[in-house]
Amino acid sequence: MTDQVAVRMSGIVKRFPGVVANDGVDLEIRAGEVHALLGENGAGKSTLSNILCGLYRADEGVVEVAGRQSEFSSPRDALNAGIGMVHQHFRLVPTFTVAENVVLGESDGSLFMNHDQVAARVQELSDRYALAVDPTARIWQLSVGEQQRVEILKVLYRGAKVLILDEPTAVLTPIEARSLFATLRAMGEEGRSVIFISHKLGEVMAVSDRVTVLRGGRTVGTVDTSETSTRDLASLMVGRSVDFDRVVRATPADTDTTVLRVEDVSVTDDRGRVSLHQISFTIGRGEIVGVAGVAGNGQRELAEVISGIRVPIAGRISVMDEELKLGKARAAISSGIAHVPEDRLHTGLAAGHSVEDNLALKNYRSVQISKFRLLKRRAIREQASTLVERYDVKTPDTVTPVRLLSGGNVQKVLLAREFSALPSVLIAASPTRGLDVGAIETVRERLVAAADEGVGVLLISEDLDEILSLADRILVMYEGRIVDDLPATGADRERIGLTMGGSNTTEAVK
Ligand SMILES: Nc1ncnc2c1ncn2[C@@H]1O[C@H](COP(=O)(O)OP(=O)(O)OP(=O)(O)O)[C@@H](O)[C@H]1O
Ligand SMILES: [Mg+2]
Repeated sequence: MTDQVAVRMSGIVKRFPGVVANDGVDLEIRAGEVHALLGENGAGKSTLSNILCGLYRADEGVVEVAGRQSEFSSPRDALNAGIGMVHQHFRLVPTFTVAENVVLGESDGSLFMNHDQVAARVQELSDRYALAVDPTARIWQLSVGEQQRVEILKVLYRGAKVLILDEPTAVLTPIEARSLFATLRAMGEEGRSVIFISHKLGEVMAVSDRVTVLRGGRTVGTVDTSETSTRDLASLMVGRSVDFDRVVRATPADTDTTVLRVEDVSVTDDRGRVSLHQISFTIGRGEIVGVAGVAGNGQRELAEVISGIRVPIAGRISVMDEELKLGKARAAISSGIAHVPEDRLHTGLAAGHSVEDNLALKNYRSVQISKFRLLKRRAIREQASTLVERYDVKTPDTVTPVRLLSGGNVQKVLLAREFSALPSVLIAASPTRGLDVGAIETVRERLVAAADEGVGVLLISEDLDEILSLADRILVMYEGRIVDDLPATGADRERIGLTMGGSNTTEAVK
């Protein structure tokens, strides 16, 4: 890293109807550094990045790139100035090859490209930056992590000097994340700069040189990573100290009463392979059962089969001793199962609809809301306002479409809806992913409060710390099987880590 400034943004203001997303933000990025951008949900990180990469125009403020004042009217403009962004939602053509996707959108007519030359250049970049991906593979054949590498190659191919990555590890497995960090380092060594947005403080500490913290659309400060700690960063973000310790339960779990019983359930995945092999377990009243495992080991299928979105090939599931009609989402809901899915915007919420409609989606049939048509809208609105306040959803009002909310606030809407349905079983898949530390605290408190009231919780998470701090019992999943079942108190982190990776399965429970 040198002291040379690659990008300077000063006094950036961006207003949206009802919100000031950036309220005078200052950010300085040096050549060759990995610069983390940190802040609560809705702090203005994505907005700032969108301004820098030419998607939005700032209402006020100055952007300088390599010392020259610049104003971009499109992402292409920004790329010409050396600034490229890797979005969370990939923009790749599934049926095209990696190389074709990389050159797609090149200004000089990608139709006439020399395939061999492009493939060779892509291969060279992929070697240089440890971005393992086959240039001739088609996008649909690639994992999410590989697709992200293609997006990175795309901006590198066009010579980007500054790369912005908005929550890039949210979609990655821990192993893929580690390999991404190696790539970021390699870019830094070549004098390129990386703007890295993440809520994971551990990652920020591991990969960045400096950190800028935003709060409420303003810059709180920039610190050298070597001179800070996760605790300091957390309190800078939320303006107070945050407690990461194990949550104490007011009412202990009652494991004599079973709220959910899963027996010998087997499931095939989208490609027809068996992805759950005769899974059996129970959840007691008020018990939080954590499911630990590397993503892709059957966790999603488990959540889906319990919540009725997926039909099993064998097995039985009962809620409060009542057998469930399998593969029927509505049956699952009416028997008291709530589900916070992984893919919020596609399976959880109607993005184009308002906050209040989304909050009412599940109980639209309930008497309270639909008995008197005239009162319906008012009841929906009142309920929504209460939930927005209780879950601290940052939104101008309850009629704002969900798609306009920041990532973390979208998630709060979904959680509020599921928690408020007063379920007897709650299936939560990575419920705190994408949330800032303050919001994580809120969600954890809500989960524990639900359990204290007797809800049985299945907490699926790749974050072992989260499971260790919340769960009463831990199930470890590996290749579609439960390979370990142990109490959380005094659980041996190393043992869990090993079983998650497939070792030590001789001690397997099932
Ligand atoms: N296109 C838009 N229209 C209206 N409001 C918007 C738009 N984009 C962002 N906002 C609002 O601006 C504020 C900042 O949002 P932004 O997405 O920049 O936050 P963020 O820091 O990226 O949050 P997160 O960590 O949750 O992703 C939020 O209140 C959001 O609702
Ligand atoms: Mg964001």
